[in-house]
Amino acid sequence: MLHVGRGCPKSRNMKRSILIHPDPRLKKMCLPVADISDDRRALANDMLETMYAAPGIGLAAPQIGVLERLIVLDCAKSDADTAAPLVMFNPEVLAFSDEKGVYEEGCLSIPDQYAEVERPSEVRVGWLDRDGVPREQEFDGLWATCVQHEIDHLDGKLFIDYLKPLRRQMITRKMQKLKRERARE
Ligand code: NI
Repeated sequence: MLHVGRGCPKSRNMKRSILIHPDPRLKKMCLPVADISDDRRALANDMLETMYAAPGIGLAAPQIGVLERLIVLDCAKSDADTAAPLVMFNPEVLAFSDEKGVYEEGCLSIPDQYAEVERPSEVRVGWLDRDGVPREQEFDGLWATCVQHEIDHLDGKLFIDYLKPLRRQMITRKMQKLKRERARE
């Protein structure tokens, strides 16, 4: 059957490719999202799809080369139908606890490298949801670490920036090697 003059079929979620460190786009200050349009909601859906497929518990827009203040996260246990995706436009840490916590962090842009990072163990975060409605919530545990890690991405900051220079350089060299290997494939 021929479809004439119907235009494109409705676009479906699309997995995007994730930038690997070092990449100048991962070091940029991202711009606020001015208008939460269908376009931006579709981007958030693509990011969730990309994050779940990786698999990961958080993803920031610059990691797929979009330099805008948008993150997605889901730290719910992935072994059941307990998906709890959060989409945050223009997220901001509004307050944080004096108490610190240490988690072993990783990053989809720095595959297979993990290191302990100390951060405030509780944070209050404000953001706009996918309908542009302002939200505010407190996070603790893994969620607190994850949301701070993702917001850092929007300021061009990676978890390895918290490590001692030698360790950071060692990881960066491994990533350069990984990128050379992938480019040859
Ligand atoms: Ni990351």
